[in-house]
Amino acid sequence: MRIGICTGGGDCPGLNAAIRAIVKSIKKRTNIELIGIINSFKGLQENPPQFVTLELNDVTDIYFKGGTILGTYNKSSLEEASYKSYLKLIKRGYELLKLDGILAIGGEGTQNIAKSLSEMGINIIGIPKTIDNDLPETDRTIGFATCVDLVSEAIIRLQSTAESHDRIMLLEVMGRDSGFIALHGGLAGGAHIILIPEIPVDYESVCERILARKKIGRNYTVIVVSEGVKIPKKPEDQTSSVSAVIAHELSKRLNMDTRVTVLGHLQRGGTPIPEDRILATKLGVFASLLVEKKDFGKFIAVDGSHFRTVDYKDLKRKVRRKISLDDFTITTAESIGICLGRKIPSGKMPR
Ligand code: F6P
Repeated sequence: MRIGICTGGGDCPGLNAAIRAIVKSIKKRTNIELIGIINSFKGLQENPPQFVTLELNDVTDIYFKGGTILGTYNKSSLEEASYKSYLKLIKRGYELLKLDGILAIGGEGTQNIAKSLSEMGINIIGIPKTIDNDLPETDRTIGFATCVDLVSEAIIRLQSTAESHDRIMLLEVMGRDSGFIALHGGLAGGAHIILIPEIPVDYESVCERILARKKIGRNYTVIVVSEGVKIPKKPEDQTSSVSAVIAHELSKRLNMDTRVTVLGHLQRGGTPIPEDRILATKLGVFASLLVEKKDFGKFIAVDGSHFRTVDYKDLKRKVRRKISLDDFTITTAESIGICLGRKIPSGKMPR
């Protein structure tokens, strides 16, 4: 067989660990030919298709390397007409390269395309990847743990400068419309307030939390803000970041000094931490075993400490997973006094 591997969407630490595991496990067990497709499905769309062959010596030194040796492509959504022709060009590339299947490592956008290609009869196996951890069906995605590690480290650094200056420090993190990065990173880093898209911001509750800290002599507060958070009356000019708008509102209401740090693409860079290296390696081997069994048309979902497969035909299109408000991480945060930007009815802790 001849199998293509592609990495799609936003890059993240762990992608190369997954590629390495696929090449090592397939080459050690079979004589399947492996093709690395350049820049995600875009490499198949090109004529001639852009690819590299992948042998064991191509993956010897990439385990700890951030990013992806195959390159990636984070396309904005295409309108229907061009989406259909985009798919046809990918299928043409697949046939020109005489591929028997593709391993697609990617997030919601990549898996949506993979689902369409699977419906067109192309053999696909999907591996979950995104720092956002917002893919439906799966508890975890490659890149999330390393991002949370970086966010928590950033919060710890902000604590010391906030305390030295009696300031409110706001740290804006990625995650699109889901708050997994903010909630897990904030909990791990000891943030005092965590604002996520799943809970609309109530400025009163935020100010109450900051003033309660001041009352016990804590004249500083660290707030983690998810980039997709919902705030009352966003200003006309969309240029300023959402955390800058919140900072302005808080300094007005509390007459306190505020500073904003937008972590940006630092959350996508660097070496994968051990948790992501292990997850990526296990997912790579699991996908390789599916290839050997020619068990295509499946997306691999992490279910606690196990993996299961979800047929692409059952994978919901264009759905991003959000934090459910009865998630125990929400209960945990509020139970230890972290404000999530909302009032908790007195005496009623979330269950
Ligand atoms: O989906 C991953 C992600 O990092 C989001 O959290 C972020 O909003 C987006 O990608 C940034 O996209 P780009 O790298 O194209 O700017």
